[in-house]
Amino acid sequence: MSAPWKILVVEDENIVAMDLRTSLTGSGYEVTDTVGTAREAIDSAQRRKPDLVLMDINLRGEMDGVAAADVMRTQLALPVVYLTAFSDEPTLRRARVTEPFGYLLKPFDERELNIAIELAVYRHQAQREHENFLREQAARAAVEERALENARLYQAAREAVAVRDEFLSVASHELRTPLTAMLLTVQGLERVVQRSQDERLRERTARVVQQLGRLIKLVDSLLDVSRIKAGRMELSPEEFDLSALATEVAARFMEPARENGSTLIVRAPDRLVGVWDPMRVDQVLTNLLANAVKFGAGKPIEVALQGDDAAVRLVVADRGIGISKDKIASVFERFERAVPVRKYGGLGLGLYIARQLVEAHGGRIEVESEPGQGSTFIVQLPRWRPDSAAS
Ligand SMILES: Nc1ncnc2c1ncn2[C@@H]1O[C@H](COP(=O)(O)OP(=O)(O)OP(=O)(O)O)[C@@H](O)[C@H]1O
Ligand SMILES: [Mg+2]
Repeated sequence: MSAPWKILVVEDENIVAMDLRTSLTGSGYEVTDTVGTAREAIDSAQRRKPDLVLMDINLRGEMDGVAAADVMRTQLALPVVYLTAFSDEPTLRRARVTEPFGYLLKPFDERELNIAIELAVYRHQAQREHENFLREQAARAAVEERALENARLYQAAREAVAVRDEFLSVASHELRTPLTAMLLTVQGLERVVQRSQDERLRERTARVVQQLGRLIKLVDSLLDVSRIKAGRMELSPEEFDLSALATEVAARFMEPARENGSTLIVRAPDRLVGVWDPMRVDQVLTNLLANAVKFGAGKPIEVALQGDDAAVRLVVADRGIGISKDKIASVFERFERAVPVRKYGGLGLGLYIARQLVEAHGGRIEVESEPGQGSTFIVQLPRWRPDSAAS
């Protein structure tokens, strides 16, 4: 059986209060308190937490029953049933505003009292459940609204990325052709200018050729990204000596490395023949060496090549600025950079492209790095033998 309802009796006429207590207890209710003033009533309600308050409307003192009932309702969320013998119309009007759960007109009998209490408690419980239900509904709606908003944002972000990719793809295609034409023209110009006595002219022309070359490389990177995104990155595998290729690529970086204060050495076996796409392997090594020079802080750079029957291992190690722990996971992502753009140029595409190319060969690329100590990039390529590639 559930516990009896707990009732607080607020009645300043002692005899009536005693009567009520006896009657309530007789009917199986628990009377938490009988008090005679509004203050005591509020105090007792806070401490003893009754289920219902029976409140005489005409209490003596600075606060009458109506004022006390208002506090019970608004601050303690307790249902109040008014007891009233005679009340003037203004008091009753005030009483109505406090949303009482019932009125009992004195004198009342025990049956009336019990019915009023039961109705009040049930109505109050129903009201509370309804409020809880509404609150839960509102909370659920808020969660759903947030999920919808997130989905909308996600969709918008995806669309923005798609628009960006589309733009890059079109822009790089459109740029490539005039740039190549320009390079050819300027190279022709350079040959003529080479014979000139004007050293500044020769230098300037050489710089234009160099910068145009760089611009074309950037555009090529963007084109590669579009191709990779569209699944159009195709390999043209052929047999070649990787040792020779590594030495050749490294030779291209001797001068830039020296300008940065870095030494660059290559440790490779005499020959390491296999079947890969030479242009793409060149590109991987070029991207890694470009980074090693750029982020190498003028310290020594080393390229090491080893191979067995199954695979080759290509390592590019520098002792430069390194990569922080929180960035290391994202350096192979598109447009991800771990350094400020203004300090070190670049689009953040080199490693993304390198990884795609290595993986297209069935290989793997990893990095080990310590900030301030340097970075080591390790590329593993399966060593397709000439005969296995033919089959
Ligand atoms: N050897 C390295 N040492 C330290 N940080 C590196 C090194 N290589 C790459 N990183 C970090 O990883 C980021 C991504 O490298 P990635 O080569 O993809 O881009 P990038 O060099 O900035 O630009 P891009 O190669 O497109 O010209 C770099 O911006 C840099 O923060
Ligand atoms: Mg790079």
